[in-house]
Amino acid sequence: MDSKEAIEEMDTKTVGEMVAEDYRTAEVFKKFGIEFCCGGKVTLENTCQKRGIDINAVQDALESLDNQVDTSAHDYNNWELDKLIDHIVNTHHSYVNAALSQLDEYSAKVAKVHGNGNPEVVEIYHHYQAIANELRMHMHKEEAILFPYIRTMVVANRYGEALTPPPFGSVKFPIDMMESEHVSAGNAMESIKQLSNDFSPPEHACNTYRVLYAKLQEFESDLHQHIHLENNILFPKAIQMETDLLR
Ligand SMILES: [Fe+2]
Ligand SMILES: [Fe+2]
Repeated sequence: MDSKEAIEEMDTKTVGEMVAEDYRTAEVFKKFGIEFCCGGKVTLENTCQKRGIDINAVQDALESLDNQVDTSAHDYNNWELDKLIDHIVNTHHSYVNAALSQLDEYSAKVAKVHGNGNPEVVEIYHHYQAIANELRMHMHKEEAILFPYIRTMVVANRYGEALTPPPFGSVKFPIDMMESEHVSAGNAMESIKQLSNDFSPPEHACNTYRVLYAKLQEFESDLHQHIHLENNILFPKAIQMETDLLR
């Protein structure tokens, strides 16, 4: 069901049921201060009336969820590298930053509340922390060092200018480092996938637990696409461009 249909059924459905059906709605409810976990057994209309929240604004935000998924097939392989970098930063880096701030909270909360009965959520929390810390530094290195150098190459290539070799010797060195960090993040994500039984929450899981697993699954799929664009398209082309320019 898409969120438009979900909105039509809002009259009868509880906020908790809406989150269970579409975990992305949790983000919207959280933004408006609408409780969806333990106090989620009320309809959206009731909770908005009770708390003085503009239901139209909530509905608009829920509707926009369907527009956030980029389903268009792009031919990234034919894009100029500076356009590809813009896309990586604006789509994937900004997604990671937003997702991490939610996952920080959900992973800690679930580990704290359910860690005794389900010790795997504590392990998931530790793997997640490692990924979050590494990715934050990793994206900073890409944005501060590697990507600006690739942009300089693109400009030199476009206008037939000479390229000054970078202070780090060659683009291959930061790329080697980024690729090994991708492996490390991918391995930690794989451990989370196994520990969470392929992101399947147990029967008794509360909504926060379910949202955590669904969000981790979404995070994994974004990470795969993000790493694919860098490892398979951007990096080899940047190495080739540098070789051509310094020839
Ligand atoms: Fe990246
Ligand atoms: Fe990367």
